[in-house]
Amino acid sequence: MYDFAAQTDLPKPELYSSLARAADALVQGEPDPVANMANLAATIWQFVPDLNWAGFYRVIDGELVLGPFIGKPACIRIPIGAGVCGTAAALGSTQVVPDVHAFPGHIACDADSRSELVVPVLRDGRVIAVIDLDSPTAGRFDDEDAAGMQLIAQVAALAI
Ligand code: SME
Repeated sequence: MYDFAAQTDLPKPELYSSLARAADALVQGEPDPVANMANLAATIWQFVPDLNWAGFYRVIDGELVLGPFIGKPACIRIPIGAGVCGTAAALGSTQVVPDVHAFPGHIACDADSRSELVVPVLRDGRVIAVIDLDSPTAGRFDDEDAAGMQLIAQVAALAI
């Protein structure tokens, strides 16, 4: 059993440090990428409050393909460059979207989503996946969330 006693009321830097420690501990010694993505998605969900979707899209044969996640069923394939996820993958940069309805080309997978944070997972300078977080609250994500999730992307980069 894993019991990380997530404290979701911590200041964001502390919350993401403890999430990163839990994430690192979870993937230690486990070579299976699907198992690691599944446990990472579940741990993000446990630690990060006010989400309606959290999970992975992997870069496979030049497009994003849905990976393990928590939330409602989602679009399976996203072209690189399309939507928030495809933009993060194309640019290799984190996307913080305070209002998804104002993002040109946003792909609506869950009508509850109001804001979104997508962080690329980079290995050897290449985007191999993105981590996507959706929230039902507009303006939910800021630079501290982006910096925190980049720590989790670094853990993922060695584990998926
Ligand atoms: N909104 C995303 C699509 C994925 S879902 O939110 C899970 C996008 O615009 O890329």
